[in-house]
Amino acid sequence: METFDLVVIGSGPGGYVGAIRAAQLGFTVAIIEKGEIGGTCLNRGCMPTKALLHSAELYKEAKDNFATMGVECEGLAYNAAAMYARKNEVVQQLNSGVEQLLKANKIAIYNGTGRVVAVGKVEVSTGEETRLLATKHILLATGSKPAMPPIPGSNLPGVFTSDEMLANATIHPRLAIIGAGVIGVEFASLYAALGAQVHLIEAAPRALPAMGREVGQSVAMALKKDGVALYTGAMVQGIKQQNGALQCSFTQKEEEKTVDADAILVATGRKPVLENVVAEELALQTQNGFVQVDAHFCTNIAGVYAVGDIVAGMQLAHLASAQAEVAVEHMAGKTPSKNLSLVPACIYARPEVAVVGLTEEAAAEQGIAITANKFTLAANGRTLIAGAGRSYIKLIAQQQTGKLLGAELICPRATDLINPLTLAIANGLTTAQLGEIIYPHPTFGEAIGEAAAIFGDGAIHAAPRPKR
Ligand code: NAI
Repeated sequence: METFDLVVIGSGPGGYVGAIRAAQLGFTVAIIEKGEIGGTCLNRGCMPTKALLHSAELYKEAKDNFATMGVECEGLAYNAAAMYARKNEVVQQLNSGVEQLLKANKIAIYNGTGRVVAVGKVEVSTGEETRLLATKHILLATGSKPAMPPIPGSNLPGVFTSDEMLANATIHPRLAIIGAGVIGVEFASLYAALGAQVHLIEAAPRALPAMGREVGQSVAMALKKDGVALYTGAMVQGIKQQNGALQCSFTQKEEEKTVDADAILVATGRKPVLENVVAEELALQTQNGFVQVDAHFCTNIAGVYAVGDIVAGMQLAHLASAQAEVAVEHMAGKTPSKNLSLVPACIYARPEVAVVGLTEEAAAEQGIAITANKFTLAANGRTLIAGAGRSYIKLIAQQQTGKLLGAELICPRATDLINPLTLAIANGLTTAQLGEIIYPHPTFGEAIGEAAAIFGDGAIHAAPRPKR
């Protein structure tokens, strides 16, 4: 029987990062993967979506802005097959990159299904053969899969999950999306950029209900500007085939409505993958379907840790990776190298969205006295040059100390600009400190300095506020 210090089940951003961190700490490590190396993020999530979005952005930019920018381009068209082929190339490159990293770290890779059969014992089965691995520690990182709500007709052909939408190289002329969460909004952006007709149907009163109110409202405005029909407070009743199309019916403000589409994407959340991962007699403790863990990511079973989408909390690749590092460091008796209290979240819409830390709503709920200020990028040179739409950077600071507590960005490059703000919050910097450094000009990022300056005497490139 092969013996390891750590056996990892699942090679997504939780599993493979945990495996590499463990190898760095001197562990002998095995990783078990039943599908492709890289898990959802690399194969069916973040990376393929962003690759397709990148193509779609270029197309939209060319269609809407090239002429204004003095670039002539005739016969502009997109080619779905080529877009998907490029996406697949990127994914393959990332797959092999991660595989090489695992091998370079001398991590044993087992292609098969892993199952914890006893404390310190993991079985790998390939269908043809089964082998048993002995290990000191086990890291469960089996991720999540799309959750299908019980909508009548959701099993009809043409009703897809995001996995299927990313696998089938087709851009449907009319798409209805159920759920305006992160996946729904990103697919709506993708399809709208390609000129498809998009219906986005959301049960909650606004798009992106899990985010701050203004984020949801701003994203809704941007989507509508791009031609997306957004229905909020909409309860889906069912899907049926009608005249060669799919018809989705829903009620909104007690009114019955229908939309016709060539395909329907169901994006109403994801659920943990836990079937058969741990032998029943070990009685892995779960709550609402998520594995229960302590602050070190230990489960109730000795030596078994769990991270990523199978534990409760935000389902984000970067959080899974950070949790995995912390879990492995705990196994090695080291202090955690990652601060898990601040989790930036990004949405690759047009413009990009990025948030971190406290929202105004959460501050009100928790009774924290805050000041929030927003700088609109209408006066930012780079934003004007890029011809980007309505954009803003909002900073949320503790009223008494001026310490930055949260940030909300809807602007070009928001997903990169969130990084210095996360650093500022994590290190207790004040808005005054954020405002005192020199930001290069012209950049999108100088808007951070302007937003910070509003907390003092005011931003230079914003009209003075009436004195209070
Ligand atoms: P989600 O939880 O973000 O959104 C699901 C939405 O569907 C919610 O707004 C919910 O109110 C709505 N909904 C639920 N049932 C409904 C129904 N029957 N009819 C209409 N609306 C309904 O889940 P989503 O978008 O599926 O994403 C899953 C996970 O993947 C999320 O946790 C997300 O953070 C993560 N993800 C992250 C990305 C990123 O970081 N850029 C990209 C894509 C996904």
